[in-house]
Amino acid sequence: MSDAATLKTLWAARYREGAAPGGLPDEAMLRHLLAHRSVRAYRPDPVAERVLEGAVAAAQSASTSSNLQVWSVVAVEDAGRRARLAELAGGQAHIRQAPLFLAWLVDLSRLARLGAERSHATEGLDYLETFLVGVVDAALAAQNAAAFLEAQGLGIVYIGGLRNHPEQVARELGLPDRCMAVFGMCVGHPDTDRPAAIKPRLPQSVVLHRERYDIAGEDEAIGRYDGIDEAFQREQGLAPRAWSDAMVRRVAGPQSLSGRDRLREALDALGFALR
Ligand SMILES: Cc1cc2nc3c(=O)[nH]c(=O)nc-3n(C[C@H](O)[C@H](O)[C@H](O)COP(=O)(O)O)c2cc1C
Repeated sequence: MSDAATLKTLWAARYREGAAPGGLPDEAMLRHLLAHRSVRAYRPDPVAERVLEGAVAAAQSASTSSNLQVWSVVAVEDAGRRARLAELAGGQAHIRQAPLFLAWLVDLSRLARLGAERSHATEGLDYLETFLVGVVDAALAAQNAAAFLEAQGLGIVYIGGLRNHPEQVARELGLPDRCMAVFGMCVGHPDTDRPAAIKPRLPQSVVLHRERYDIAGEDEAIGRYDGIDEAFQREQGLAPRAWSDAMVRRVAGPQSLSGRDRLREALDALGFALR
């Protein structure tokens, strides 16, 4: 988080149009959240144990459906294990570089064990609904941890690549049945020689609907965003492209899912009996 940045400048970085709302009772949290940027270059210094403890407390303080708490997290510091996970996630060098890697899990295994110990049915675990509860819980927990970690001056980047090979990742982490890594998160001290920038987002009018879903004005607003994103790409030394075209290409077909098109099969193999 940049203490020096004002809400006005952070808003400008996030949207590159419009103005920040004035008169908020407290701007500090919004300034902190607006300052987020994914970090993919880290110094080797370890993350202190007390910071990990704080991150887990932040994660556990997130809301959780019915207090089921059907998520867990594996903290990986071992360099060899991080290297293997980096390969499984598609050869992502930042997993090797960041001193701490958190694998966020949808974890139905705990309730399965509690049911078995009590000889009690746990058939509810076999429904897509319960799996989704775990995925939502894991995401809420992880994002609370991310916000806390960034407040400590650390950088993070989520790693969806952990779903490229779910069974191998489960073996590497020793996961029981009914437990899957939903995504990972690199954590470390950002390498200030290679700073990351705040990436602009879609105009609020595209994502915020009032009373009823409404696509009037969507094309025009996305057109504006294509221009904003293209300028950002150029500034970052990346190939400029229209965001809308690039995102449509990302969902063109199973070939664009990095092997995750077989997730259904992987879930079966991991002991989720989803109905
Ligand atoms: C669930 C999830 C999975 C992601 N997976 C990856 C990944 O595997 N590798 C990566 O470099 N970034 C990954 N990201 C980071 C996004 O690319 C990034 O958040 C997005 O481009 C917006 O950039 P920003 O976070 O800097 O604002 C992931 C983000 C999320 C939320």
